[in-house]
Amino acid sequence: MIVGQRVRLRALEESDLERCYRWINDPEVTEHLTARFPISTHDERKWLLQASSGDGDRSFAIETAEGEHIGNIGLHRIHYLDRNAELGILIGEKDRWNQGYGTEAILTLLKFAFEEMNLHRVYLRVDADNPRAIRCYEKCGFVKEGTLRDATYRRGRYKDQYIMSVLAHEFRAAASGR
Ligand SMILES: CC(C)(COP(=O)(O)OP(=O)(O)OC[C@H]1O[C@@H](n2cnc3c(N)ncnc32)[C@H](O)[C@@H]1OP(=O)(O)O)[C@@H](O)C(=O)NCCC(=O)NCCS
Repeated sequence: MIVGQRVRLRALEESDLERCYRWINDPEVTEHLTARFPISTHDERKWLLQASSGDGDRSFAIETAEGEHIGNIGLHRIHYLDRNAELGILIGEKDRWNQGYGTEAILTLLKFAFEEMNLHRVYLRVDADNPRAIRCYEKCGFVKEGTLRDATYRRGRYKDQYIMSVLAHEFRAAASGR
């Protein structure tokens, strides 16, 4: 397990299926995610079985200190030559939003990405109208690199997205002051 101060990141198990299926089919949770079609239990199980073990994609369950599984986090498009990866996260239990768990899970995964996987850059895409996520990423040291104009179409309109990233040396410098 990858152990942080208030969360643990562990491999996803088939027994997590009910929660993951519920979260990925909840429009409030997925409003700002790429997932937009209803997902069947069959497809969600298929995803779960390989989610934590791929070479280019590694997803993990986010557990509180009490052992409650509240969401998932992952590194995608892991590139071992350029040493970068794209981060994705969802806290599926909505009553856990705004309690610092997202920030803590990301800081825990970034430490692992930079100190154990020897990555150099972690980046992400975020909808410009997702202020909670943007604030959370800024708290973790991500900076805005640029705007992708009209990059996604939801609820009948195009929306901008931001690319944000954090580099290993920036993370280390910030960590020494945390
Ligand atoms: C986005 C997400 C990962 C953030 O995790 P979280 O645990 O809720 O976030 P945190 O509590 O760590 O941090 C949220 C910050 O945003 C702030 N915030 C919340 N709503 C806000 C708003 N409308 N405007 C500005 N800031 C806001 C909070 O106050 C907090 O900042 P603070 O600690 O300075 O007060 C989580 O809410 C989530 O999974 N949402 C659904 C899926 C999603 O949007 N994923 C990201 C896709 S890019």
